[in-house]
Amino acid sequence: MFGNVDFDSIDITQEPPEEEPARQYYFIAKCRKYVKEESERLGRPLFAVVRTFGCQMNAKDSEKLAGILEAAGYDMIDSEEANFVLYNTCTVRDNANQRVYGRLGVLNGIKRKNPGMKIALCGCMMQEEAVIEKLKKSYRFVDLIFGTHNIYKFAELLYMALEDHGMIIDIWKDTDKIVEDLPARRKFSFKSGVNIMFGCNNFCSYCIVPYVRGRERSRNPKDIIREIEALAAGGVVEVMLLGQNVNSYGKNLEEPVSFAELLREVEKIEGIKRIRFMTSHPKDLSDELIEVMKNSTKICRHLHLPLQSGSTKILTAMNRKYTKEQYLALAEKIRREIPDISITTDIIVGFPGETPEDVEETIDVVKKVEYDNAFTFIYSKRAGTPAAGMKEQVPEEAVKEGFDKLLFVVQETAKKRAALLKGQVMEALVEEKNEQDETLMTGRLSNNILVHFKGDDTLLGKLVKVRLEECHGFYYMGTMTD
Ligand code: 5AD
Ligand code: SF4
Repeated sequence: MFGNVDFDSIDITQEPPEEEPARQYYFIAKCRKYVKEESERLGRPLFAVVRTFGCQMNAKDSEKLAGILEAAGYDMIDSEEANFVLYNTCTVRDNANQRVYGRLGVLNGIKRKNPGMKIALCGCMMQEEAVIEKLKKSYRFVDLIFGTHNIYKFAELLYMALEDHGMIIDIWKDTDKIVEDLPARRKFSFKSGVNIMFGCNNFCSYCIVPYVRGRERSRNPKDIIREIEALAAGGVVEVMLLGQNVNSYGKNLEEPVSFAELLREVEKIEGIKRIRFMTSHPKDLSDELIEVMKNSTKICRHLHLPLQSGSTKILTAMNRKYTKEQYLALAEKIRREIPDISITTDIIVGFPGETPEDVEETIDVVKKVEYDNAFTFIYSKRAGTPAAGMKEQVPEEAVKEGFDKLLFVVQETAKKRAALLKGQVMEALVEEKNEQDETLMTGRLSNNILVHFKGDDTLLGKLVKVRLEECHGFYYMGTMTD
């Protein structure tokens, strides 16, 4: 396991080993030598920063990338005034790409003042050919570019970038490889994301993820359990199992395992008190999973169940493989079986061909399901997806009215749902000090709602009972009762 590796005892005068992760350990050792010498020359530590754009999977990848940088000897900081700046990018909607280009402009200015600085880009956006062309042409100051499939090779690429002075680009089209036991630098000591699968096979017609993250690959259940056991031994009490579509976990393994079976195994791990997972596709959500959730004392009372649209016509064009009625029946079953569950969702407005009547269908679903929260997005045309080629693209101005109307209903419904908890005493995992008020701590309830209450740092990572007093829509003010 990585925790026992002594990088300084690796013989870096030899050729690098072929097998993984030994090869990456070797390059970490090489980078350590470079960083040590450079920091001795400068008389100060070398600093690095990793910035994450996008989803929880990217946040998890960033922890792995930061882990490598830390193992290589960098001091991790929260500022772009660093020796090594890495942006882990997202491309699910175009505004994510635009943000990266904007920030790169600023980075260029910083690098002009600090010529030794290295800039690296990775993640989903780098899997797009048009992006690489643009970077090659107009962003020559970027030192290293890699994609989603070879992230495990970061130590090796980092070493190349430190030695070399030119733009290094290494992008793979796909991979079937999963490399275990690489370092990670976790943001929280008491909770952690755990990848259970990579990629997506669903090809929803608007979505670029299957093209940039590749085909579905599940991790071996033994590796997952081993990782969670090690996390628990290190003080982690909450895990979030991560995958684009966790409900199809394990189907393609040599010895197939269902997601519900995996959850049963995770539940047995001593020390783990809470289990979350993200994301579920409604078409694959099984009765077995509902049963496991219902009988579990550890699985959190929260299900993120992306709807995308409430109109069967649009759902068909989106290739979602369920109808409005099927979704409603599923949500009703879940609420019936697990009454205290909170259901959240993702919704897209402005998909090609969508009319105001279709948006009304979506609003109807929001009213019926009574989501505890919903993320609403305006459709963004992604090159290479089937929806990008569809006629009847809806201009953004035409979407605005429907979007605002939907948002209003979503917010009202969420407020109404949250208000139902008023006066209850619930368990919260204390996650951080409140940013605005130092005397307050912030905890997360099983149903994912946040609660702020008087407390101090000693509570961090603990599960405490809090009385929910004032409802502020998406969060509560409360008082600790024990
Ligand atoms: N435009 C807008 N939203 C999108 N999503 C995925 N692709 C697009 C797109 N092209 C949203 C979906 C998904 C969430 C992660 O992002 O709602 O569930
Ligand atoms: Fe994209 Fe659909 Fe896969 Fe989710 S399930 S990542 S929306 S293709």
